Amino acid sequence: MKFFIDTADLGEISEAASWGCLAGVTTNPSLYARTGGGLADFEDHMVKIATVCEGLPVSAESTAMTTQEMIADGRRLAALAPNVVVKLPIGSQSLAATHALAAEGVKVNMTLIFSAPQALLAARAGARFVSPFIGRIDDIGYDGIAGLEDIVRAVHNYDYGHEVEIIAASIRSPHHVTQAALMGADIATVPFGALKNCLSHPLTEQGLARFEADWAEVKNA
Ligand code: E4P
Repeated sequence: MKFFIDTADLGEISEAASWGCLAGVTTNPSLYARTGGGLADFEDHMVKIATVCEGLPVSAESTAMTTQEMIADGRRLAALAPNVVVKLPIGSQSLAATHALAAEGVKVNMTLIFSAPQALLAARAGARFVSPFIGRIDDIGYDGIAGLEDIVRAVHNYDYGHEVEIIAASIRSPHHVTQAALMGADIATVPFGALKNCLSHPLTEQGLARFEADWAEVKNA
């Protein structure tokens, strides 16, 4: 499973990229809003992210409401950098936009996916990435991982004539990451905090402290 980072924060993206295991970035309007940037800075900000992550897919989300607006937005966003992927929320208007954009070679990440039928429609319309959410399903008392398992099995059962990768999104914890990998998600997009939590383990910390203490004795012997 590949790791994407789910943030629009350039500092977080740069640090995660420096680890050498980052395969892409996903952003959304809420994540961009958290950076404090305004509308006028949005496209420049996406270009900065695409530059830091040159060659890796960077999802920039359109907030357009109609098919024609989404197509125009999608073309504009895709032209920002070769690695920009246009993110569209699932719906009838966005399926039509995805179909048109995919025919032009624009990669689309279809987001706000909560069911297998939504994911199948997105893949069939031409989406290059399909993003089912885990945490938001857990938040309302259902099992986000079980939903992901259905989606992975259903989507990967068919050939769409183009590559389709499933991005496990709305990830909250290392447990979600483990489960997403076990369920066969192609990618997990993980917020920076959860990514750092994936790095740590109490026994790793304890082991390091013991090595340090023992090495100090070696040096003093
Ligand atoms: C991913 O593409 C989504 O934008 C993101 O994972 C949503 O996560 P949240 O439920 O934590 O907002």
